[in-house]
Amino acid sequence: MFNGADSEEISMDDAENRVKTGIPGFDELCGGGLIRDRTYLISGTSGAGKTNFGIQFIYNGITKYGENGIIIATEERPEQIRKNVSKFGWDLKKLEDEGKLAIIDACSTKIGVPSQEKYVDVRPFDIRSMLDQIITTQEQINAKRAIVDSTTSISFFLQEPAKIRIELLKLSTTLEILGLTSMMTCEIIDETNPSRFGVENFVTDGTIMLYYDRHENVRLHSMEIYKMRGTDHSKKIHPYDITPDGFVIHPHRDLYTMA
Ligand SMILES: Nc1ncnc2c1ncn2[C@@H]1O[C@H](COP(=O)(O)OP(=O)(O)O)[C@@H](O)[C@H]1O
Ligand SMILES: [Mg+2]
Repeated sequence: MFNGADSEEISMDDAENRVKTGIPGFDELCGGGLIRDRTYLISGTSGAGKTNFGIQFIYNGITKYGENGIIIATEERPEQIRKNVSKFGWDLKKLEDEGKLAIIDACSTKIGVPSQEKYVDVRPFDIRSMLDQIITTQEQINAKRAIVDSTTSISFFLQEPAKIRIELLKLSTTLEILGLTSMMTCEIIDETNPSRFGVENFVTDGTIMLYYDRHENVRLHSMEIYKMRGTDHSKKIHPYDITPDGFVIHPHRDLYTMA
């Protein structure tokens, strides 16, 4: 479909191996969906839409494809996440009550506020304890998808790139071993670099960039599959809208001809 196939390309009809995001316009950009049990970095500046994109992947997984999900929230408290996405009509609480979704609160303890959540990472900050909590949660809900939002707050805690690389590798490998196809968000300040600490994209199998750029007197959202191991994918930059129903990507529309 797209030129420039990766050497490890898998068969396009290997549909079982594909995890559909269900995000309108996205799956056709990468041969039908993400590759199962792999981890993807979602990079973008603040406000680009990383959290919403990741939650839409989880929400669609549960509601369209019968795949349970785990949200590991290191940056916003679960209550904020539930409230923010309710404007898209996504009722996370209902899915949690049905045992299809778990939101791990890995934020409250870190900032020193109490948490009433069912799944809480109780220690101040330590990847080992977070992995234990993910493993316990996975035993309970048998999820197929996860999002870690965000790697940036974890990385600021760890500080050193060598340490960040090892700890994020442990995290992505654990998610893969648990049978989770995952997204990890990364907040960047310079759109020419897909990672904040220079290492996050080394521990993931693909990188999706979300842009929110000024063009004349407006800002436009666009996205790019920057890297995706094991599959052919679009090499173009595609505009997207955040609509009342969530993300809609326009695979066949050019960025600056929005008519
Ligand atoms: N109902 C909505 N309609 C349109 N855009 C929205 C809506 N809700 C949020 N947004 C957009 O979503 C962006 C925030 O998305 P978010 O996923 O929180 O960003 P990030 O995690 O990258 O900081 C905002 O910039 C805003 O423009
Ligand atoms: Mg966010």
